Amino acid sequence: MTPTLRLRTAAAAVAAIALVAAGTAALLAQPELHLIPWAYGIPPVLAPGQKPAELPFQRPEGELTLPGSPAKLTRAALTDMTNAADWWPEDHPPMPPIVKNGRKPGVSACGVCHYPNGKGKPDNSAVAGLPEAYFIQQMLDYRDGTRKSANPKKGNAVQMGQFAKAMTDDEIREAARYFGSMKYTPWVKVIEAAKVPAHIYFGQLWVKVGTESTEALGNQILEGPEDTARFEGYRDPRSGFVAYVPPGSIKKGRELATTGGKGRTVACTPCHGADLRGIGPVPAIAGRSTSYLGRQLNDFRTGARHGAWSGLMKAATEKLTDEDILALSAYAASLAP
Ligand code: HEC
Ligand code: HEC
Repeated sequence: MTPTLRLRTAAAAVAAIALVAAGTAALLAQPELHLIPWAYGIPPVLAPGQKPAELPFQRPEGELTLPGSPAKLTRAALTDMTNAADWWPEDHPPMPPIVKNGRKPGVSACGVCHYPNGKGKPDNSAVAGLPEAYFIQQMLDYRDGTRKSANPKKGNAVQMGQFAKAMTDDEIREAARYFGSMKYTPWVKVIEAAKVPAHIYFGQLWVKVGTESTEALGNQILEGPEDTARFEGYRDPRSGFVAYVPPGSIKKGRELATTGGKGRTVACTPCHGADLRGIGPVPAIAGRSTSYLGRQLNDFRTGARHGAWSGLMKAATEKLTDEDILALSAYAASLAP
């Protein structure tokens, strides 16, 4: 027992234990937090008997090559969690071992999910160009559980917590230095459209399968690979993403981000910069994935993400509606990184 506890009266101790027990029960129950389907890559509900849609192309097998790349890779090599596949070694400095190979036990190679160039996929995150201090703080938040996804079923976000717990401080510093040394360059094309080509849900993303804009987008964002074959067939880290957003959302987002929208939020620019490219340790949000940004805003709003620095995001997020989150995500993603 700690000295403070010993000084307490018996009644206080009983009350304290009851509180702890209630806290544990609440934690075990994983309270359902509000989610935004497009931001969390939540699969559509299928009608009884309906099968999930299949990708409209055959994945290439055997020895894979890409024009201009020195690499020859197999399909299995593309997702080897102990050896990040590297199509374009000239696009980045040499990967430190933790990024290239991860470390047993418990740490997968960062370069597989986030790509060797750090630009990542919408279902994970772009880590290229993040300030080192910010990067390190995020890993500490993942480690102590104060940064979580509002969606406890988001397996790859749960894994981030596990990696952070298994990593040494030196490994965290090395990864932060490596990814922080690279520039994040344009990666997501934001297109305003009321009607969009047909998409199917695949692996937390939306994959374009139609050629004509025949489907109503509605009040959501659809974000997916610009070239499905290069993305899904080759995991090519030079092949970016497209986000379809409802008409008018960029302008609405700009209004909120620059003025605070008459008290709905606060202006983002004093902290993230006029162009949202970050200031000092405050991260850049310009040109990043719409669904990543939407998830983070909701994670702050619900309190699932409440790390050491997250208090600074409280006033910006606590009163946001889902529509505000859509508009802010569309606007920030549309800016040049
Ligand atoms: C299995 C895939 C996967 C691997 C491997 C992985 N990550 Fe992540 N990482 C994620 C996901 C998913 C997120 C975003 C979670 C979310 O949106 O809730 C993330 C987020 C992050 C962030 C937060 C970025 C930001 O802008 O705040 C950092 C930092 C990070 N990862 C570092 C690492 C490091 C370092 C490694 C290697 C040790 C690593 N990740 C390996 C999936 C992965
Ligand atoms: C008072 C300063 C401040 C203001 C105002 C502010 N932010 Fe932030 N923002 C931060 C800080 C600090 C972080 C890092 C928080 C953390 O580590 O948990 C952050 C993180 C974020 C992230 C997560 C980035 C990532 O890579 O995961 C997003 C998205 C974001 N802010 C968007 C916004 C938007 C949109 C607004 C305006 C509506 C805004 N912020 C206003 C300081 C601010």
